[in-house]
Formats: sequence, C-alpha cells, structure tokens
Amino acid sequence: MRFLLLIGLLLASIGAACAEPLDADRAAGRILFVEGVGAAGAVAAALGTGQVAVQATSVPCASCHGRDGRGRPEGAIVPPDITGPVLGAPADRPGPDGGKRRAYDQAALVRAVTLGIDVEGRPLDPIMPRYRLTLDDADHLVRYLETLGAGAEPGVTPDRLVLGTILPRADAPAGALLRAFVDRLDAAGGVFGRRVEIVVAPAAASPAEAARHLMATQPVFALVAPWIAHDERPVADYAQAEGVPMVGPETLRPDAAGPSQRYLFFLDGGVPAEAQALALAADRLGRTPVAIIDGADPVAGAAAAAAFARAGTPALRKGLSAADTPETLVRDLSQAGIGRILWLAPGLDVFAAAAVTSGYRPTLLVPAEFGAGTLGPGTLPAALALRAGPDDQTEEALAAYRELAAAYHLPDTDRPAQLHALVAIRLLIATLERAGRDVTREGLVTALEATGDFRSGLMPPLSYGQSRRIGSTGAWILLPGAAPEWLDPARR
Ligand code: HEC
Repeated sequence: MRFLLLIGLLLASIGAACAEPLDADRAAGRILFVEGVGAAGAVAAALGTGQVAVQATSVPCASCHGRDGRGRPEGAIVPPDITGPVLGAPADRPGPDGGKRRAYDQAALVRAVTLGIDVEGRPLDPIMPRYRLTLDDADHLVRYLETLGAGAEPGVTPDRLVLGTILPRADAPAGALLRAFVDRLDAAGGVFGRRVEIVVAPAAASPAEAARHLMATQPVFALVAPWIAHDERPVADYAQAEGVPMVGPETLRPDAAGPSQRYLFFLDGGVPAEAQALALAADRLGRTPVAIIDGADPVAGAAAAAAFARAGTPALRKGLSAADTPETLVRDLSQAGIGRILWLAPGLDVFAAAAVTSGYRPTLLVPAEFGAGTLGPGTLPAALALRAGPDDQTEEALAAYRELAAAYHLPDTDRPAQLHALVAIRLLIATLERAGRDVTREGLVTALEATGDFRSGLMPPLSYGQSRRIGSTGAWILLPGAAPEWLDPARR
C-alpha cells in the first residue's frame, strides 16, 4: 500500500524531488491535469451543480487553472492558484465571500475535485467542475499537484538553463553549431541572466533510449533539434510521459509521432507535406493515371493518396518489394497506362534510366529527399517538392550563419542539419525570452503555441497553435519550366 504524505511534508523534500524525472504516477497525474485523460481512459465530469455531464477532456484542470496551475483569470472567473505550495498552506478563500481557509491535505483536495467542497466544507463555485475520479486517478492527480509550482523546474537554476539534444553521431555538426550558438548567447548575457548550456545525449540504441539516458544523468529543461528519425513514436511517448518539450525534432516523418505529440514542435511537415503538395500540383501535369511508389517504409504514401483522392484523382499505390526490378516496374507501370508517378522510395535514378531506355516517359513527382539531384538532363520530366527554397532565405540570416561557422570552425558538412538546428535554437531562445523569467516547461509549451509567423530567414515562417505542432506546413513545388510555387496542403 502506498503511504500518503501530507502536502506540507512533501514540500519539505521538494528541492531534492524535482531534480528527478517525474515518476510514473505523477506523469499520469499530469496527463489528467493537462488533458483530462485518466489511467483507464476517459474521465467523466459534471458542470454546474451536477446536471450537465461532460468529458474531462473538454474541461481539463489546465484549461482554467493554467498549465502551470497558477490560475488564469478569464472575465469574471478567477480560478485560484492550485500549485502545491499554495494549496499546502493557509490562504484566502477563492470567490466573493472571502475569508480564510486552512491548508489542504490529500483528502480535502480529493473532496474539492470530486464533490466541489473546499477545505472549510463550503461549496465551491459551480464553475469548478466535479470530476468522477477512480482512486488511482485521484492519487495521481494529488501527487502531480504536489509537485506543481514547487519551484525548481528540471534543468533550471537561478543562473543556468540546461538544454539537451540528440545527435545521429557524436561528431554530428549540428551539435557543434548548437554549442557555438549558446556560447555566443552566453557571452551576451544568456537568457534572463541564465547561462544556457547544451548537453548531448549519450550514444544509445535508439533516440528514445538516448533521451531516457540523458534525463537519467542530469536534469534537462527541454530538448532542441533532437535527432529522432525512425523513432518518432517512442520519442513522442517519452516526451509525453516526462512532460519535456522538444523544439525542432529532426525527422522526415513528423506524422509518425502519432497522437501524443503535444510536447514535440516540428519545424516543418517533412516528406508527407511534400507529397501532399505534389498531389495538389499533379493536375498541372496532365490527367493521366497516377501511381504512388512507396519504399520499404510506406513513407508519405498514405497522406499523398488521401490528397489525390480529395482532388478527385484516384492513385494506384505500389510498395516496392525485393521482387521488383527497374525493368518489371517499367513494364507494369507502362502497361497500366500510368503517366504520373509520385516517387517516395530509394532507387529513383535507376528506375528513370530503365524507363528512358525502354522509351517509357511518365512525369515524376518527387520530394527533394528522394534523389531529385540524381536526375540529370535527358531523363524523365520531374516536378520537385522542397520544404525550404531560396526565397525563404535572407542574405542577413545566411551571413550570420557563415560568420558563426567561421568563428567556431564549424564543419563544412551536413549544412541542412546545421541550419535546421540553428532555426530550432533560435525559435526556442526567442520563445523563452517571451515566456519570461519564471520559465516552466508548461509555460514554454504555452508560449510556443502562441508563436505566429516566426521568421528565421533560413526557412519558411513558423506558426504554432493549441492543436498545431508543425511550424511550416507547405512545400515549394518546382514544375518543369515554371517558377517555384508555394503550396500548403494544410491551408485547403
Ligand atoms: C471550468 C474551469 C475550471 C476547471 C476546468 C477546473 N477548475 Fe478548479 N476551480 C475553478 C474555479 C473558478 C475555482 C474557484 C471556485 C470558487 O471560487 O469557489 C476552482 C477551485 C478549485 C480548488 C479549490 C482551491 C481553493 O483555494 O479552495 C481546487 C483544489 C481546484 N479548483 C482544483 C481543480 C482541479 C484539480 C481540476 C481538474 C481536475 C480543476 N480544478 C478544474 C475553475 C475550474
């Protein structure tokens, strides 16, 4: 049986406790607090004096009390501060009647949340919903509230702010770039007087493992430009469980993060966004039948097929298998009368060469990552998609990068990954500067969600929102013989 401590007692040990990652119960409590989802799924709640049944997902605690629990006044409604230290001490009662209340203990807290009765036995304003919690949910919630607002956030001290990153290899240039950037920043006073430090996750079997090892070794406030390719889902689940924001995760598959991507703020929509933009542009290339060629990982094929369907163009989907040779592929596609091919697999150059040899001339639709550069003159006509184009880059931003690179002797390789990391750290620092000195992870998430039109001068502008986790959702489309055009599938 779990021994339940009084909030006041727990507060005494909070200094030590918060340096550590949230344990599983508190993590469950945070998800209940922020999202209204309990250990066993949906949580029922009642509004008013109990007549109107709702799901807690539509009225999670954070929607009124704020993610940080400090209360967010909205019109005449003033939800009180329900952070651990405040609940654990006597205070003024909320509401117009005023008066004092004593400190909450666990039982009183559970009564307030489930029955709407405060620690003095008086009914709370009916605006505060009543929640039907299981014993586990109540325990998780109480444990989370105890730590909420208890002062120190992981990785934040009065004079330091520790950020982490995950690299594909220990010597990946993005790491050197991040260190150079914060060195400059710190020389200019840091953020609100705090020195910013970058720590690199130790090598591990997977990015999610690397994140776990990093957090186990030392408290880290947030991750910046972590490399999460092919491990999106486990990383997103980990971020969700730990409540750690990740700004600019590096992957071509942000969609693979799945539903729990609340803490991941992607810079762009990766290959799925490019494939969707290509689907939008495809009808400019005639009305012939379309095929989508998926690689081993059906990368963005599903998103693209849906976009074709919306445009009224059914597309044949084919996954490449070991049995396919370039020649059989050319034969099958030409026999099916396919005139446009969205290519989302390796081996584009070999296929194009085989097609040219046999006189088959479909038009290719290709995200830049799939070897567009290997298509020389004289091969198949191709439309390309790029997540960032020359028009997104300003001379000023490029010059600043070149100057930093020269001053810190940054490697000349992996330029795209370096620029990606640079945009991510600039976005993170700009957001921290906006969020204020009392920075919390939840406060950072809220501030990121309020980011609109962040211009790095290195890629298209970035905007986020409460349900938007991809900063730039479109792609540049280069059709043969036409000027580049920006198409944004999310805006249709
Ligand atoms: C719709 C807005 C809303 C939501 C959602 C909400 N609350 Fe409240 N809560 C309030 C308001 C308003 C009060 C003050 C009531 C009063 O003045 O009597 C309050 C009061 C409280 C109190 C009493 C504080 C005190 O000082 O006596 C606690 C504890 C509390 N809420 C916890 C929670 C928890 C935990 C959740 C989620 C499970 C939650 N609330 C969800 C609006 C909300």
